[in-house]
Amino acid sequence: MRVSPLPIGDILRDLGAELHPDSLLAESTSLGIGGYTDRIVIRRCDGLPEIIRLLDDSGIPHRFLGGGTNLLVADGELPWVVLQLPSIRGGVEITDNIATVDAAADLGGMVTFCARHNLGGMEGLIGVPGSVGGALRMNAGAYGTQIGAYVREVRLFRRSTGALETLRGCDIRFDYRHTSFGLDDVFLSVKLELPLRPYREIVKAIGICNQKRRASQPLNQKSAGCIFKNPPGSSTGRILDELGLKGFRVGDAMVSDRHANFFVNTGHASCADMLALIETVRDRVFAAHGLELEREVIFWEN
Ligand code: EPU
Repeated sequence: MRVSPLPIGDILRDLGAELHPDSLLAESTSLGIGGYTDRIVIRRCDGLPEIIRLLDDSGIPHRFLGGGTNLLVADGELPWVVLQLPSIRGGVEITDNIATVDAAADLGGMVTFCARHNLGGMEGLIGVPGSVGGALRMNAGAYGTQIGAYVREVRLFRRSTGALETLRGCDIRFDYRHTSFGLDDVFLSVKLELPLRPYREIVKAIGICNQKRRASQPLNQKSAGCIFKNPPGSSTGRILDELGLKGFRVGDAMVSDRHANFFVNTGHASCADMLALIETVRDRVFAAHGLELEREVIFWEN
């Protein structure tokens, strides 16, 4: 989708946004999969409502791209443009035991920054790739920690009202890999209320989680983390492993031989390859156990 031939390219510039025509989204996703479209990087959050209004009025469909780490994007020319807040280093401010974090901040960087201020609780999230905003949307979790448990306040842009709003943590529902946010809400920042813990203890806990993750997950390969959610009380990884699916592939899309719920791009996998692998694996599990696996990874179709 192109906005570039339209005069709104100039208007976007005046609103503090940069237009990157024909961006290949494979370069912005951890799976290394995705077609191309125009990408708009928004430098000033206060320009956001006007930019959205402009795109709506011009009939240009759009989607928000966070860290791209839990996302499968369709191949080829995409029928929507992509909006992005620039990824930033830092983006965390601490007052007492409250961390105010930009949604575009790196999740792992935020956890270690808080640790240096003796604020813990999120040690389990250390190796989860992606931005704080992405973690918030999915209520990311690992090793007994879920980010939602610490959310005190979220600043966001709501498409439904067209306004910047602040939600209190107690008014948001956080479930397993699911939240009550609107699908098109855009996060700007979050306030986290964290337990005080000595730095040395936090670092030790982080080290243990890192070690567990390195031992069980294909960290050096292109993936989107776990492809399916876990069924209640069970592990999809174990189920797929027991069905002998490790190493099973469609083109360059492969079930990891390290953790069976990670599907990796071993070279030049297309979205079609990955979808075919997902469907085949889902069918196998249904045939064997009558169980319908639910996808965890978000899919942007064209
Ligand atoms: N297992 C196997 N074979 C495999 C994978 C796992 O036998 O190929 C077994 C393990 O040996 C273990 C059990 O299954 O006994 C559970 O495995 P693991 O500890 O790796 O946890 P998981 O349930 O597979 C979940 C999250 C991960 C998170 C880990 C650690 C989901 C879908 N996955 O995985 O999150 O990192 O726990 O807390 O909830 C993600 O969401 O993208 C993700 C990777």
